[in-house]
Amino acid sequence: MTRGRFISFEGGEGAGKSTQARRLAQRLTALGHEVVLTREPGGSVGAEAIRDLLVNGPAERWSATTETLLMYAARRDHIERVIAPALARGAVVICDRFFDSTRAYQGAGGDAPQALIAALETHVVGAVIPDLTLIFDLPAPEGLARAVARGEGEARFEAKGLAFHERLRAAFLGIAAAEPARCAVIDATADIDTVSERIWAVTEPRLGKAAS
Ligand code: TMP
Repeated sequence: MTRGRFISFEGGEGAGKSTQARRLAQRLTALGHEVVLTREPGGSVGAEAIRDLLVNGPAERWSATTETLLMYAARRDHIERVIAPALARGAVVICDRFFDSTRAYQGAGGDAPQALIAALETHVVGAVIPDLTLIFDLPAPEGLARAVARGEGEARFEAKGLAFHERLRAAFLGIAAAEPARCAVIDATADIDTVSERIWAVTEPRLGKAAS
């Protein structure tokens, strides 16, 4: 079955993912692709309701395991109602964060069991795996400073401290090293236009390749 393309944007806080996701969406739309620009947690009505539970409130509101379950409840609704239908009709889906964020934030940054995360990936995500994952890399202090300066990022996760964000960075780089066919590391310290061109350089070759 021919389907569209699924591209996820991943990385720590303040790396400019959302800006770049918008730019890529505009570029692909201008070329005539149907583009669905979406985000996690969220992206569907039900998942956005779950997002409110996740991103607001004190840092210790949920354990990492509870967060994992909430992320995956949101992810399942998002996949069923938005991502899978869009891919089935041949659209390019650009998702600001996807399952690698759970591996990094709840698994490496928190203490959610790897076996639980792996089982959820198998049974909840299944075959809806990104064709390309762009991992935005930035030193953790720089990312946090940028996120705070822009008033971006979500309070509960930003409150977790620098050591947590250093673990996240290492986890994302570890994912990229383990899955080089799916992942490309993007040096997010460069200026906005340079980052956009790097993203285009890794994205464009993937658009033509038939997926099944
Ligand atoms: P955002 O700031 O990129 O919109 O993401 C909201 C927060 O949710 C961000 O701090 C990362 C966090 N998050 C997780 O902890 N696990 C996940 O699986 C996802 C998708 C996001």
